[in-house]
Parts: sequence; C-alpha cells; structure tokens
Amino acid sequence: MIRVSPLIIHAAMLALASSGVGNFVYSHHMALSSLRTVILAAGQGTRLRSSTPKVLHALAGRPVLSYVLDAAHGVSADPPLVVVHPSHQEVQAFVEASGGIPVPQRESRGTGDAVRSIPEEFRHADTFVVLSGDTPLVTGDTVRNIIDRHAATGNAATVATFRLRGMNSYGRIERDPQNGTVCGIREARDRGEESGNEEHEYNAGLYCFASDHLFAALEKLTPDNAQGEYYLSDVIGLLVPHGVGTFVLDDAEELAGINDQRDFAKVEQVMRSKIADRLMDGGVHLVDPATTYCDWDVHVDAGTTIQPGCVIQGKTTIGAGCRIGPYAQLRDMLVGSGCSIGSSTLEESKLGAGVTVGQYCRVRTGCTIDDSVYLGTAAEVKNAHIGARSFISHFSCVLDAEVGTDVNVGAGTVTCNFDGTSKHRTIMGDGAFIGSDSILVAPCVIGKHAYVGAGSVITHDVPDDALAVERNQQRNVDGWALRRRAHMSIQDQGTIPSPTPLEPSS
Ligand code: UD1
Ligand code: CA
Repeated sequence: MIRVSPLIIHAAMLALASSGVGNFVYSHHMALSSLRTVILAAGQGTRLRSSTPKVLHALAGRPVLSYVLDAAHGVSADPPLVVVHPSHQEVQAFVEASGGIPVPQRESRGTGDAVRSIPEEFRHADTFVVLSGDTPLVTGDTVRNIIDRHAATGNAATVATFRLRGMNSYGRIERDPQNGTVCGIREARDRGEESGNEEHEYNAGLYCFASDHLFAALEKLTPDNAQGEYYLSDVIGLLVPHGVGTFVLDDAEELAGINDQRDFAKVEQVMRSKIADRLMDGGVHLVDPATTYCDWDVHVDAGTTIQPGCVIQGKTTIGAGCRIGPYAQLRDMLVGSGCSIGSSTLEESKLGAGVTVGQYCRVRTGCTIDDSVYLGTAAEVKNAHIGARSFISHFSCVLDAEVGTDVNVGAGTVTCNFDGTSKHRTIMGDGAFIGSDSILVAPCVIGKHAYVGAGSVITHDVPDDALAVERNQQRNVDGWALRRRAHMSIQDQGTIPSPTPLEPSS
C-alpha cells in the first residue's frame, strides 16, 4: 500500500469545469500539507436488528470496519480517527488494535454530530477525508482519487456520488436545474413519498473537506429534519458558497452501505465475488465460484482446484496443486502443496505436502500432520502430531497423540485420552503397527516398530519391536452352527406358523 503524508499530488490533466462542480483541469503541482482520515462508526445500527455493533459484524471473516480502516491506512500515514459509540468497548478495542484512534461520540445525534466530536487536538490537518464505517467495499484507490480531485479543485468540499435507479435510503444530490451546480443533499426520510424507477444521483458517504470550512459549517448545523439529527450531508449545502465539487463513481457497488440484513447479504455477495476473482486471477481453479465461500484472508497458490461447496475461512493458506472438496470446510488451516482433501472439516492445524484427507474426516485444532500422511474415511484427529507417511485408517480416533513416521493405525483404533479428570497423550513410535479396532488407553507408549494385535485394549506401554496382544484366546466349537440350524428348524415347525401355505390357494 502507498502511504502519502504529507500528501503530494502530481496532477497531470483533469478536465476543468467552470462552475465549481464536476470535472476540472489542473496542470500544476498541488500539495495538501496534511491530511486526516475520519471513519464514522458510532451509529447504533438499529436497522440491522442485532446486538453486535454493525461495524464489528464479520464480513468474509473480518469485521466490516477492518476494510474501511485498510482503505484509510492506504491514503495517510497518520492513524485514522474512528468515531465510536461510548458503550461499544469492543469497537474501541478493535480500532486501537488496528492502529486507529477511537473518538467517542457522546450520543448518536447524527453523522454531522459524529464529525463534530473530533477533539481540537486532532483537528489540525488541512484536509479531512470522511468515510463511513459501514461501506466496506470502498478501496484505497477510490479514496485517493477523490483526494486528487479535491486537491485539484481547491473546493471547500468534494463529495463522492453515484447514480442509482429506484427507491433507496441514500441522500440525494440536489442540483440547480439551470446550471447543474450542487445545491445540497436531501436525505431519504426528508424527501417524502417517492415513486417510480427514475435514476438519480446520490451521496456515497465519502467526502473530502478543507478543515476550516468543515468545522465552521458543523457549528451551523441544525437538527431540523425528519430524524432530528445533525446531518453531515447538510454541510454540503452550507459550503456551496465556498465551492463544492462532486466525484461521480462509475461503480455504485463500491460505496454500497450496510444498513439492514439485506444490504449485508448483497455486500457479502460482492465481496465474495471479488475474492473469487482474486483467487482465479492467481491461477486457482474454482470449479464453481458461486458456491465457493472464501474469506478475505484466504490465500491459495496457483494450480489448486477447489470443487463446489467449499467453505474456506479465517487465515487459511493452501499450497499449489491441491484438490479441495467438494464440500470441504477449512478454517485457519495451513495446507502444504499437493494435498487432497475430501468432504471433511479441518480447523487450526497444519498439513505438510502430499497429505490425503479422505471423506468425512475431522481434523480438529492443534494438529501437525507431516508430509504424505493418509487419513482414511471418517478419521478424527485432535491435538496430535502425525509423522510423515503414516496411515490413520478409517473410523480411527487419534486424539492427544504423538505418532511417529511410517506408523499404521488400523481402522477403528481409538486413543482413550480422557480418564474422567484429565487428558493424557498416546505415543506411537516410528514404524509402529496398530491393528484394527485397538484401544490405546493413555498415557501409553507404543514402541518403535512394535505391533499391537487387532482388537487389543492396551493399558501398559509396549516396548520397541514387541508384539502386544490383549484379548481372550479364540475357541472354535465344531459343528455348532449345524446344530443351531437344526434346533431352529424344529422350533419353527413347533411354535411359529410357516409363512408359506401348504396348499396353493384356489
Ligand atoms: C448516510 C448519509 C447519506 C448517504 C449514506 C451513504 C447522512 C445524514 N446521510 O446515510 O446521505 O447517502 O450515508 O452510505 O449523513 N454514525 C455515527 N454517528 C451517528 C450516526 C451515524 O458515527 O450519530 C455513523 C454510522 O455508524 C455509519 C455512518 O455514520 O457508519 C453513516 O450513518 P448511517 O446512519 O448509516 O447513515 P445513512 O442513513 O446510511
Ligand atoms: Ca449507512
């Protein structure tokens, strides 16, 4: 990311419009000596009907606010100011952890009041860029573009706008019908009844202000509107005599705001398709991008195929040449190259190269699975280290274990890790062979190259190279089945009526 402070703008050529609106040309070098970004995030988010603050809702695995913070960090080295609700302590903590400065707004009295909450000590910058905490699709490039335009025009304010058709909740840009200059912004609730499907120009909620004009105008705001709030959008009308410009965005989607759950779903869809595009541009084969849900912080190397229905979350990294899914779920995983993962669930673990995870497996937290390990159908592992080339066969449950290299864990083996009070570990040495359906009661050490006979319940350590068998001696009873069948047939004739009639029915 490019960080510019103080912001030096080398303007090449922009079209110059006469009226202080629209397009401008400038061919000199302009310098904005200091610039501060402000993100408004103190709203209650009532329309979302959720107890979680709106800006902390997870969007593609990260809080909504984190994307706006990224855009702000991208345009100024000075920490962004984030206006927060005083009761939203989690928001304040998140802002601090993300390198921003939380600015409490005492009461939610509107977007204008939010900007007015900025204390004197932070008002020194010449230029203020205001962003909304609920527009996570905004990019640093767009913010830079509006700053460029603002610097080029020398206006008191520049507001980003987009054109939309149909009813919506955005503030509408009002222009003089004679000369097209901006007169102000009219909020949806103050416009009264609307009908039709006409296209209009709306406020995107992204502004650039000359600070002295901004703070002077904020003092003149009145809550004389349908919501009884101090609208930041009213500052635009107040600054018209000092010059107001617009920056019309081609893509209305980028500044889409999240107000209700429907908006949220739409934004999430756009975000997901951006992520899918990024992965595909990086050479990942998404068989069906529409049903592949990858979080923002997911990284996949080129040449990996992701089958439909996969959900890849958190900070998951997947190497090259893997085959994932269909219907695999991965969260916070580190996957090496050349792995094959079936319809399984994996979380907070690390796979080496060439690992096979079969169908319906569960790789729970804290596993390190080395190269070329094989997990058969429905195997479950947790808090375990599995050495290279080991097999954990189907229906095995290997919990709290240290498994060496080239170990064969037969189908249905269980490490009994819990004694009712505490958890214990099972250790299997290199080259050990555990017969199917064995129960290894931890703490327990199976020595290197040792064998455990199938079906054994192992409660004591097994030395290296030994065979442990723990089961009753097999007894074969000759002719038993024959005698049983004979007994059954006598019983059938005597007590149970035969299901087939003796005579054919007429
Ligand atoms: C606002 C604009 C509207 C614009 C739209 C773009 C106003 C009055 N309206 O409407 O013109 O088209 O954004 O998305 O500015 N906030 C505070 N403190 C408050 C109130 C809000 O910090 O007292 C924050 C919110 O958390 C939110 C942002 O400001 O992040 C915008 O507030 P919101 O209520 O969502 O405004 P909109 O109705 O979307
Ligand atoms: Ca909004």
